Amino acid sequence: MPEKVTVPGIRARKRSAGHEPIVMVTAYDTPSARIADEAGVDAILVGDSVAMVALGYADTLQVDIDVMAHHVGAVARAHPRALLIGDLPWLSYHTGEADAVRNAAALVRSGAEAVKLEGGSRRVPAVEAIVGAEIPVMGHLGLTPQSVHVMGGFKVQGRQEAEADALLEDARRLEDAGCFAVVLEGVPADLAARVTDAVGVPTIGIGAGAACDGQVLVFHDLLGLGSGRVPRFVRRYADLAADATKALSAFAADVREGRFPSGEESYGAPS
Ligand code: KIV
Repeated sequence: MPEKVTVPGIRARKRSAGHEPIVMVTAYDTPSARIADEAGVDAILVGDSVAMVALGYADTLQVDIDVMAHHVGAVARAHPRALLIGDLPWLSYHTGEADAVRNAAALVRSGAEAVKLEGGSRRVPAVEAIVGAEIPVMGHLGLTPQSVHVMGGFKVQGRQEAEADALLEDARRLEDAGCFAVVLEGVPADLAARVTDAVGVPTIGIGAGAACDGQVLVFHDLLGLGSGRVPRFVRRYADLAADATKALSAFAADVREGRFPSGEESYGAPS
C-alpha cells in the first residue's frame, strides 16, 4: 500500500534534487476524488474553479467559504492517499489575518490538509498568519483567476520584463513567508523556469511550461468533461462527455422502445 502523501513530502519534491514531477488534479466530489486517487496522483486540489467547471458561473468569484468547505468535505470522504488541498475563495483572506486563519481552519475542519491562496507580496501577512496557525499554505502566482477584473480577463501574465521580475520577487516572498509549494498559472515557460530555479519549494505549473516541479490540470478538462473551448495548455486524455452522451442516448432509446427494463432487471412477485 503506497504511503499517504504529506506536506513535507511534497515540499521536498524539487526536480533539481532528482525527484519525479508532482502530479496534481482538481476534484470537487467523492467519486472524482476516488478516481484521481486510484490513478495515483500526488495531490488533489479542491479548486475554486468548481465555480466555473461544476456550478456554471462565469468566474471563480462566485463561491464563498461555505461552498468550498462543502466540496472539500465531499473530497475528504474519499479518504485519499493524495494530499488534499482546499482553495481559499475570493474575499476569504483579503479582509485581515484573523479572517484568513478562520477561513483556512474551516477548510481544515472539512478535511483539507493544506490550503491554497492567490497573490504575491500583498498576501504575505495572510500566509504568515495561516502558517502561524499550523496550517500549510500553497501559493498561486501568475494568472490568478480571482484577479480577473484587475487583469482585464484570463490573460497570460509576466510577459513584460518588469512584470516577470515582480513575479520572481513574489515567489521568493511566498517562500520566505512559509509556503510549501507555489502554483504558477499562465506564465511564459522561461519565466516559470527562472522561478523554479530561484525558489527552494516546488513550483506546480498550469500553462507554465515543462520546467516546473509539477503539473496540475482541471479534472474535467483533461477528461473531456467540460463544454466549450479549452485553453491550449490542456491535453485531453479522454472524451468522457461524448461517451456519457452516447450512453444516455442509448438508455433513452431503450426506455422509449420498451427494451428497458428487462425481466432480469425487474423484481418478481413474492412466492
Ligand atoms: O481552482 C483551481 O482549479 C486552481 C488550479 C487551476 C490551479 O486554482
